[in-house]
Amino acid sequence: MIVTLEVSDGLALISVNNPPVNTINAATRRELFQALADIRARSDIRAVLLVCEGKTFFSGADIGEFAGPPMEQEFRDLFAQFEALTVPVVAAMHGTVLGGGLELSLACHYRVAVAGTRFGLPEVTLGIIPGAGGTQRMPRLIGVDNALELIVSARPVDVARALALGFLDAAIDPPVRAGGIAFTRSLLDAGRGARRTSERAVDPASATPAIRERLTAQARSQYPNRQAALTAIDAVFAAARLPLAEGLAFENELGNRAKATVESKALIHVFFAERETRKVPGLPADVRARPIARAAVVGAGTMGAGIAICFANAGLPVTLLDANREALDRGLSSIAAIYQSMVSRGRISADERQQRLALIQGVLDYASLADADVIIEAVFESLDLKRKVFAQLDRIAKAGALLATNTSTLDIAAIAAATGRPQDVIGLHFFSPANVMPLLEVVRTDDSSPETIRSALDLARPLKKTPVLARVCYGFIGNRMMEGYAREAERLVLEGASPRQVDGALEAWGMSMGILAVFDMAGIDVSVNVHKAHADRYPPDASYYQADFALHAAGRLGQKTGGGYYRYLPGDRTRHDDPEAIAILRASAERLGIVQQVHGDQEILERCLLPIINEGLRVLEDGVALRASDIDVVWTSGYGFPRYRGGPMFYADTIGLKAVYDGIHHYREQFGPMHWQPAGLLERLVREGRTLADWDQARD
Ligand code: NAI
Repeated sequence: MIVTLEVSDGLALISVNNPPVNTINAATRRELFQALADIRARSDIRAVLLVCEGKTFFSGADIGEFAGPPMEQEFRDLFAQFEALTVPVVAAMHGTVLGGGLELSLACHYRVAVAGTRFGLPEVTLGIIPGAGGTQRMPRLIGVDNALELIVSARPVDVARALALGFLDAAIDPPVRAGGIAFTRSLLDAGRGARRTSERAVDPASATPAIRERLTAQARSQYPNRQAALTAIDAVFAAARLPLAEGLAFENELGNRAKATVESKALIHVFFAERETRKVPGLPADVRARPIARAAVVGAGTMGAGIAICFANAGLPVTLLDANREALDRGLSSIAAIYQSMVSRGRISADERQQRLALIQGVLDYASLADADVIIEAVFESLDLKRKVFAQLDRIAKAGALLATNTSTLDIAAIAAATGRPQDVIGLHFFSPANVMPLLEVVRTDDSSPETIRSALDLARPLKKTPVLARVCYGFIGNRMMEGYAREAERLVLEGASPRQVDGALEAWGMSMGILAVFDMAGIDVSVNVHKAHADRYPPDASYYQADFALHAAGRLGQKTGGGYYRYLPGDRTRHDDPEAIAILRASAERLGIVQQVHGDQEILERCLLPIINEGLRVLEDGVALRASDIDVVWTSGYGFPRYRGGPMFYADTIGLKAVYDGIHHYREQFGPMHWQPAGLLERLVREGRTLADWDQARD
């Protein structure tokens, strides 16, 4: 039983308990309809109070239902029945009240909440609009402009802001049930009756053409290439001219249109894909993660410091080891600086900084790592060095400790072989900055035990990371797929496209940062060193990565030297076009005999994106990634690929695998087969007329 109805002294208390977060799923709706019918059948009820048990009032609709038939009409009927009651109806709220949860409260007659409650309408982040009356009721309470601020920004507001905006009537004392009862009784004492949102008129001053223009501009700049926020603006403005029933019908029409867009399908795909990554077919169901109470990190450099912060943020004590005092101190002071900047930006309080810093202990001796449940190695990228570190860890780590490496390019099996317990070794590939980037590639070797894999995937949760399981190969999932993308971007500038033209096309399409600007940020020396270390893997192509090499040879290492593909002023990350960089690239092209060409944006996009997709198919056929949707998570959470395009594999399905195949053939004719060879799986799927979504489904 989810919904209980208790009547006491004329007050009907509807209490809902649908853990974990009280989504308004089908069973909840059914029982709420029943409670309302029971209430209507009685004559002794003078007021209704709606509360939820557990940690929150309704957190929203059940997103799992989005894949099925539309349910909006049922929501609308349910909410209309709440609103139509002839006695006052109060929603008493706590927790995080989002989407459909907030829309339901708007159909109640009065809204109150305990301190700490947050309210939001985040639908546009899923490419849809509030579709259960939110676009029609919210403007009746707080005006079109304020309603759209909530919907377009998609950011939750607190109790003080909700009171100021006017959709919340009062803050009540906790616990929420007692506070709600007291408020409802006070309404009755004051002789207050029903008060329906639908009967209120929208303030016309909140819906002027100037306001519409401002909000439209905001929506376009916040959500380039996207439609949902603009659709929400249309829906909310309709509330200013239409009575509720007609407004709801219009909202329904627009809501259905939004749900049919690629944008919403892509965003919902990523939403579910992120929840799917922890599922590992073939892992015995009874395998349990080992408890992790203490962590250690070896190497206090850029990555080690960031990883230590992740543990401290999770409230877990972490020991940080480096080879010498100086390097350790450098690591500890960079940690202190990161926390300081979090305090100055208001992210955490000074007290929280102290608590977190106190969890991080710097050491120089391996013996101090003996009680750690997980040890993550982040020393220089050298196989010899890492093998030495792991041999050392093998001597001191307690039995069952998870031994992880943060390597980006090395063979983890070879690192594991330096220990007598390869079953406990796994890759935990964090992305830079490790304390910020959500992606965590979990890289298993053939020897990693099911328990080790489960433990690593589960560890991601307290660290607030999205784990994606990969197998060992050069570059794992993400960096392996970067290879062709980077290769083509560099080749394009050698053929005469300007860095801004290449990055501009990618960014206008939706990449959060163009690849050449990424190189400048990460340091061109970093990629050059990786290429040099793996020169044996080069294809016989004289132009391969030569743009990086030319800039590197000229001492242009990116932002840190004031110039790479672009020019930068000291202390400023703004990119400026730089004729000097272009001259260097031109000279390199001349040496290599590369003919200069004119490129359209479409060609730039195809040449950069098709190799990503093609390599993604190889990653799948090699079994390096479990599913296409896992690859989409890697790219949307670690590589700035637009979520609203669903990730590279979803995008491939959107444009059609046949188009991908034809595109690859087109460039193969132009450039030859060395780099333009369709993946076997691509050929197969095209031949069979199947999509990547089909392929995923057949495997799960
Ligand atoms: P870094 O050069 O900033 O830090 C390496 C640290 O390891 C230094 O503090 C050094 O003193 C310490 N160290 C060296 N030998 C040691 C030893 N024997 N015992 C203990 N500490 C030792 O390097 P960074 O960038 O933090 O990279 C570390 C690892 O993370 C590398 O394997 C790298 O490939 C990987 N990685 C780096 C990423 C990046 O963007 N920087 C991204 C993902 C992985």
